[in-house]
Amino acid sequence: MWRRVALLSPMISSSSRSLPLNQAALGVKVGESFATDVNNPDERTLSPKEKAPFITFVLGGPGSGKGTQCEKIVETFGLQHLSAGDLLRREIALKNKNGAMILNLIKDGKIVPSEVTVKLIQKELESSDSCKFLIDGFPRTEENRVAFERIVGADPDVVLFFDCPEEEMVKRVLNRNQGRIDDNITTMKKRLKIFNALNRPVIDYYKNKGKLYTINAIGSVDDIFQHVLPIFNSFEQLKVSRHVNPKSPLGSILVENSS
Ligand code: ADP
Ligand code: C5P
Ligand code: MG
Repeated sequence: MWRRVALLSPMISSSSRSLPLNQAALGVKVGESFATDVNNPDERTLSPKEKAPFITFVLGGPGSGKGTQCEKIVETFGLQHLSAGDLLRREIALKNKNGAMILNLIKDGKIVPSEVTVKLIQKELESSDSCKFLIDGFPRTEENRVAFERIVGADPDVVLFFDCPEEEMVKRVLNRNQGRIDDNITTMKKRLKIFNALNRPVIDYYKNKGKLYTINAIGSVDDIFQHVLPIFNSFEQLKVSRHVNPKSPLGSILVENSS
């Protein structure tokens, strides 16, 4: 389980970590989180699960290249990739409880109820050994966003938005060739409408919060990744665990530089 640790570094804006992890939801008792480090001047090294997770949301229209760029980010920075769409498709494939309902919604380009999607993401977050995540294709709607905050109790550190013209997205989706039931022109038109109506407000929300990184999604995969790299490089320097140091005037020190 994650444990909330002090996040006092001036290099990470406080707003980016404003909403604490829902410790109850993640099985951590409030009050227990700071105790050990404050009382232990030896400041033992924290395991990855004990650190606050680094969360990136990856937004963009259908076919904008989210999954493709996520693969490159994973290769370079080692974040764990969670695609909301893949998690939903897995429920269909496994014929799980909500599988039939999810299939009908995906076929029609509609959004699956937030509670269902967020619980799938939450399960992955909780069972992972990683503390750095790329959550791809999420939040799709304001309702998704609010449900994540309520259920998981975490805020993203970074929000990427792959900005791609519609004609290019249509072309890419129709050429994707992965046997997806929703990669056809009829469903694609519906997905684009839903993206414009429901995802744009989420993009604006993170823009207003100063967390949005908009990337021009036209060009080769490698060229686009060149625009993604510096974003993560800047956080890479911050990829350190922090915990309370009673001797430090700032109350925080950099402990280690591992993931
Ligand atoms: P998303 O996850 O946003 O729906 P994908 O990453 O699956 O998009 O990309 C959609 C399709 O477009 C895939 O077939 C992928 O190989 C292709 N693709 C991705 N990035 C580019 C690019 N920069 N130029 C051309 N085709 C691309
Ligand atoms: O992101 P991806 O293209 O894989 O999503 C495929 C479909 O999965 C969406 O069109 C939508 O029907 C569903 N989905 C959803 N909620 C999300 C992500 C995907 O309902 N947050
Ligand atoms: Mg995708």
